[in-house]
Amino acid sequence: MADLLLGQVLSFTGDPFALGPEAAHHESHGAVLVQDGKIRATGTADALRAAYPQAQVSDYGRALISAGFVDAHVHYPQTAIIASWGKRLIDWLNMYTFPEEMRFSDPAYAADIAARYTGIALAHGTTSFCTYATIHPASVDAIFTAAQTRNMRIWAGKTCMDRNAPEGLRDTPQSAYDDSRALLEKWHGVDRLSYVITPRFSPTSTPEQLAALGGLWREYPDCLMQTHLSEQTDEIDWVQGLFPQSRDYLDTYEAQGLLAEGAIFGHAIHLTPRERARLKETGASLIHCPTSNTFIGSGLFDMAGLKAEGQRIGLATDTGGGSSFSMLHTMAAAYEVAQLKGSALHPAQLWWLATQGSAQALRADHLIGNIAPGLEADLVVIDLASTPAIEQATRRAGDIWQAIFPTIMMGDDRAIRATWIGGIPVKS
Ligand code: GUN
Ligand code: ZN
Repeated sequence: MADLLLGQVLSFTGDPFALGPEAAHHESHGAVLVQDGKIRATGTADALRAAYPQAQVSDYGRALISAGFVDAHVHYPQTAIIASWGKRLIDWLNMYTFPEEMRFSDPAYAADIAARYTGIALAHGTTSFCTYATIHPASVDAIFTAAQTRNMRIWAGKTCMDRNAPEGLRDTPQSAYDDSRALLEKWHGVDRLSYVITPRFSPTSTPEQLAALGGLWREYPDCLMQTHLSEQTDEIDWVQGLFPQSRDYLDTYEAQGLLAEGAIFGHAIHLTPRERARLKETGASLIHCPTSNTFIGSGLFDMAGLKAEGQRIGLATDTGGGSSFSMLHTMAAAYEVAQLKGSALHPAQLWWLATQGSAQALRADHLIGNIAPGLEADLVVIDLASTPAIEQATRRAGDIWQAIFPTIMMGDDRAIRATWIGGIPVKS
């Protein structure tokens, strides 16, 4: 049985940072045919109705059909401490994050939050995410189980820390290697699930632990590796003290085999010229987390400069350092951060970052992140007039971007009219 979704359809034929808004394709009365979990055809509503008369029609009227949002950096265990007041990174970790992550020693608590987080993500139109778990292997089982039940394509890994974290949240180089390897063997490539090797960041890993995880990555090079890089200046000073031999923060990873294509670096705000050059050369990915960067007071990501250099960049909420689960809010924050850096991101660029850009950063753009035949049918349907305030702001819209931008700036989960996962509607 095939399904035919009707509405305004937004897709991309390239990167709008390189090609401009013309890299986006907008079909005003469009259609998407899905069957067996995949997108089979796209085109005008008239053409696809005529070509597939047996398909079951879901007519979304003037709503916008897009690839589902891909959140490239989250901490699902921080779901319950989102929007915690008054701290910057290191104090925020010690005061809010570590005590909460301790609770995940209880597998039942981990399962509860994993189910809560996936439900919230889907309600916000996020169909894929790449998440840190906690130090506890059961926290990885919990999020993979929650995603598997919902048939979601996700990435997750056990967060490894062997220093500068409280008792109960520390492993060792050997146990980090052994636990990560066992989880990888158990989950990587099962259904739509992928394991990510996950040292939290250099301050909480000894060089020995980073080396052990670098060794694991050499054994499984098709896995991604995620960590944090140069989020706050205090953190960079701390890293310099902990790794006096290293040329810079990135070198603490590079020296241990943790810099290559498939490395996913969250934040990457305060980079040296050498770091930028090495990130570009290796094809690593940078993940911009704008609501987190303003909420924790980290700084302003150089989107225009880094894209101009040809860096691979995705977009993320960084739940719960980030202050929202919504990729719409996250696009708005990316717009505002870029404005403060002197460049106005086009809505096509923002939307691309939240879908195909993040999928590229996760090396999964051949699977998700766009509407094209052969890709997996993870879709979001957006109401472009979801509140009276947004509706009135769109009345004089002269083109699709003017119609979309108020939803980018003011939209939230109320704008999510439907979410489809693997060709099945899960919110409609
Ligand atoms: N750096 C190391 N751990 C974290 C975390 O949990 N959140 C953020 N925002 N930065 C980090
Ligand atoms: Zn993070």
